[in-house]
Amino acid sequence: MIQVEGLTKDYGLRRAIDGISFHASKGEILGFLGPNGAGKTTTMRILTGYMPPTSGKASVAGYDVIERSLEVRRRVGYLPETVPLYPDMTVFEYLKFMADLRHLSQVEDKVDDVLELVHMEDRADGYIANLSKGMRQRVGLAQALLHQPEVLILDEPTIGLDPAQIHEVRDLIQDLGRERTILLSTHILSEAQQVCNRVLIINKGKIVAEDSPENLRSRIAGSQRFRLAVLGETEGLEKIIRDVPGIKTVAANDRSVFEFETTPGQDVRPLVSRAVVSAGYDLVELYPIGLSLEEIFLQLTRDEPRAPEMAEVDDLLNTALDEQLDQPEEDASELKG
Ligand SMILES: Nc1ncnc2c1ncn2[C@@H]1O[C@H](COP(=O)(O)OP(=O)(O)O)[C@@H](O)[C@H]1O
Ligand SMILES: [Mg+2]
Repeated sequence: MIQVEGLTKDYGLRRAIDGISFHASKGEILGFLGPNGAGKTTTMRILTGYMPPTSGKASVAGYDVIERSLEVRRRVGYLPETVPLYPDMTVFEYLKFMADLRHLSQVEDKVDDVLELVHMEDRADGYIANLSKGMRQRVGLAQALLHQPEVLILDEPTIGLDPAQIHEVRDLIQDLGRERTILLSTHILSEAQQVCNRVLIINKGKIVAEDSPENLRSRIAGSQRFRLAVLGETEGLEKIIRDVPGIKTVAANDRSVFEFETTPGQDVRPLVSRAVVSAGYDLVELYPIGLSLEEIFLQLTRDEPRAPEMAEVDDLLNTALDEQLDQPEEDASELKG
């Protein structure tokens, strides 16, 4: 369990996080989504008891992070942005070393257990220097799990990994999340969408939205988008779709594919399909294409005056959006800052 209220942190004159409040419960994978500099790492360092906030309160696993930081550290597994690994140790030696630092008992059993959890039993005697980046990340996860923590705090766990490794680490996190509380930070929107049950969007030290990935989409957009395709003749079809009650916008994607957006609260598909078919067109496809978190993020942050670095992020997002229209399942959507 994680409980945060009005958390604020200043580095000198710079306010890194500004009155953040949220909670996360057992069995929940909470996503912390935002561009670089949003304040994700700062929040996580405070929650792991490594740094006090300037003001505000936070408790993890029922213990106050300032007053009971030792108790907190006993119950939290932390995967920092860069895991301090020792290349000339074997995986087993390193994990044993980390377990000894924590004064754990039955160290060798615990090391075996976490190696099994991260599927690295066969790598125990390999040197860390020889591991791929994905494997090293798994060793980082293994050390975070040694003391069987009930809360896991993972700071950009898939950063720098290749797509296959990303897939593996995400699966692993979802497994781990079943019996624990996980807070996971990412600047990759599709990652939060895929891995998390709930997402906090953080920007410039403030939480700008909090919801399930699905709800965020419909709540903020308030409408749905669909794609429709016909075989053959399309002359006059755009007008037919546009005239259906509840249709907001229609765009011809290519000659036989149309995309339309609807006003919230009603499923217009029966009306649309009836109108299209009875006008003599051969309808072959009609399916929803959800609004992406990229679009949501843009909508949420659009009102604020744009700092130059955010304009850059917007450009990247727009590119990602264009790509996503072609490949809805791709991970092209990185918010590099
Ligand atoms: N040790 C530090 N000293 C001064 N400023 C910092 C320090 N760490 C982070 N910051 C600043 O605080 C803000 C939030 O940073 P951070 O928490 O690292 O964001 P994120 O993890 O979302 O990228 C940024 O503006 C960053 O430059
Ligand atoms: Mg960070």
